Amino acid sequence: MTATASAERPDASFLRGLPKAELHLHIEGSLEPELMFALAERNGIALPYSSVDELRRAYDFSNLQSFLDIYYAGASVLRTEQDFHDMAWAYFQRAHADNVIHAELFFDPQTHTARGVAFETVIAGLDSALQRARSEFGMGAELIMCFLRHLSEAEAFETLEQAEPHLGKFIGVGLDSSEVGHPPEKFRQVFARAGQLGLHRVAHAGEEGPPAYIWSALDELHAERIDHGVQAPKDATLMQRLVAERIPLTVCPLSNQKLCVFPDLRQHSLPQLLDAGVVATLNSDDPAYFGGYMNQNFVETFDALGLGREQAITLARNSFEASFADAAHRRRYFDRLQEYVAQSGAQ
Ligand code: ADE
Ligand code: ZN
Repeated sequence: MTATASAERPDASFLRGLPKAELHLHIEGSLEPELMFALAERNGIALPYSSVDELRRAYDFSNLQSFLDIYYAGASVLRTEQDFHDMAWAYFQRAHADNVIHAELFFDPQTHTARGVAFETVIAGLDSALQRARSEFGMGAELIMCFLRHLSEAEAFETLEQAEPHLGKFIGVGLDSSEVGHPPEKFRQVFARAGQLGLHRVAHAGEEGPPAYIWSALDELHAERIDHGVQAPKDATLMQRLVAERIPLTVCPLSNQKLCVFPDLRQHSLPQLLDAGVVATLNSDDPAYFGGYMNQNFVETFDALGLGREQAITLARNSFEASFADAAHRRRYFDRLQEYVAQSGAQ
């Protein structure tokens, strides 16, 4: 690959058509206002907004917490197995349209069990949508169960116990919700238990929190991937470690823009991460709240940061490398990417 080719700017149709994996997607964050109103009506729940437009106007966030308050309130319309299925199926249809061929979805059981919805209801509804995405779209689809870090480790343990009869339905555990003041080490023991159960481990760290949280997610929780991690360039030694150990970061630029993690998308740290050789991936986080699914993230980010075609291919390749798909599936994903690149005229 020549220097000229690596600087070549990709057009939007090339970005949209790229086969890709999504590794940082909260399924509750894919609940679009239209579906939220439909589920509220189906379940006889009154929403504190008179219309979809009024609700959308409330999506004006100043930081992570200002978003989480609305996000948890929105999830209150989810009551039945069918509701969870419908939400996840709507996501898979959008992801498929964006050429996402493998998706690992976060879900937050504590948001629902705290309201009296059974763990079984949540996981059964999500699981049936995953099965449908696998059979109708041929997608790779998996679940990762997140613990809410503003709650206690004891509550996380209770959730893991509720989940144990369903170990075949999810592949890992994660850590999300309010970051600052809730460092990863608070969950050291429950992550150790998850590891004993053979589960993968990931954690949100370095979204709003400092690089120290990324270190402790790696050292105390044994996280295999870091969700966000966009504060890493503030710590040169950490950057060297991420590169040397090929620890992936699941980066979500439109989320970071909406939550004011960077003053402007043009100041996002993604170019620094890519230039240093970090295994960065692109993801949508909570697309119903942040203004776009995967392809919107690709198109707006490439436009704002002036990234090149070679970087698009690297991000797609990284997404498959960073996934928890088995070796045979990963091989097939890499092959599809290679075919796409070859037929679209690069290399
Ligand atoms: N839960 C849903 N989206 C999140 C985010 N961006 N950070 C932390 N917790 C979340
Ligand atoms: Zn997230």
